[in-house]
Amino acid sequence: MTTIVYLNGDFLPVEQARVPVMDRGFLFGDGVYEVIPVYDRRPFRLEEHLARLDASLAGIRLTNPHDLAAWRSLTERVIAEAGQDDLGLYIQVTRGVGARDHAFPARIQPTVFILPMPLSPPAPGLVATGVGAITAVDNRWLRCDLKTISLLPNVLLRQLSVDAGSAETILIRDGFLTEGSASSVFVVMDGVIVAPPKSERMLPGITYDVVFELAEAHGMACARRPVPERELRAATEIWLTSSTKEILAVTRLDGQAVGDGRPGALFARIHALYQAYKHTVMRGNEPS
Ligand code: PDD
Repeated sequence: MTTIVYLNGDFLPVEQARVPVMDRGFLFGDGVYEVIPVYDRRPFRLEEHLARLDASLAGIRLTNPHDLAAWRSLTERVIAEAGQDDLGLYIQVTRGVGARDHAFPARIQPTVFILPMPLSPPAPGLVATGVGAITAVDNRWLRCDLKTISLLPNVLLRQLSVDAGSAETILIRDGFLTEGSASSVFVVMDGVIVAPPKSERMLPGITYDVVFELAEAHGMACARRPVPERELRAATEIWLTSSTKEILAVTRLDGQAVGDGRPGALFARIHALYQAYKHTVMRGNEPS
C-alpha cells in the first residue's frame, strides 16, 4: 500500500514527495522534529508532543507554521490516509529553502513534512529478557532539550551500541547520567525510581513524564535528581523509555549484569501500569 505523506500543503505518495536540495534541513540540519505514537488511530499525548514541537521551534527561532487546530487536522488526515491502527507519526519542520548562507535568509517559508511510519513496540521477548546497553561520553551540544534534526552526534553514539551488539548507548556528561542516544534513562536505587531532572542536557521525554505520573499516582517512590555515574553502575534496575520503545529494562550495562541480570520487580510494575494506561487512552477514556 502506498504511504501518503504531507508536504507543504499537499498529501501525496511518499515516492512523489520532493524537497529541493537548497532546503536548510538538507544543507545545515536546520530544523526540528517529533515522533508521536498512534495507537488505535489515536495519537498518544498529541498536545504534549505539539507543545514540545513548539518549544523546539522557539528554541531555533522559527515561527510555528501552524496552530494547534491545524496540526491536529493535518495529523488526523495523515492517520486516516495511512489506514493502519498503530503508527509512528514523524513530523519535521525545517527553516526552508534559500541560498546557502549560515545566517537566516530574510524571507523564507518553512518546510513541513509529516510521515506515517510503522510502529513496532518492543517484542514481548525483549520485554521479558531486557536488553544490553553500553555507556559513552555525552559529546553533544548543550541544547539537547531541543528535538533538532541535527542528529549526527546521536547517530554516531547509537552506532557504538550497534557495533557492540547492544540496544542503546547511555550517555554520561561530567560524571552524571544524561539520557540514551534516542531514549530517556531511569535507574532504581534503594527501591526509589530516579531520573535526571529536565535540563538543557537532555530531551524532555514525553514517556519520561508518563512514567513519573504513573509512579506518583500509584505511590511508587520516585525522584528527579542528578544521577552520578557510580549510581548508574550500582543501580538494581535501569530502564529506557521512548515513544517507540515504551519502557524497556536494561539487564546488562557494559557487559555487567544489572541487578540479578533480569528485569526487576519495579520494571514489571511500571510496564504493566504503562500498558494499562495506554489501553485506557486508546478507549478514549484518558483521565484529564
Ligand atoms: N526519540 N531522548 C532522546 C535523545 C530521544 O531521541 C528520545 C526519543 C527520547 C525519548 O523521548 P519521548 O519519550 O518523548 O519519545 C529521549 C525518538 C523516539 C526518535 O528520535 O525517534
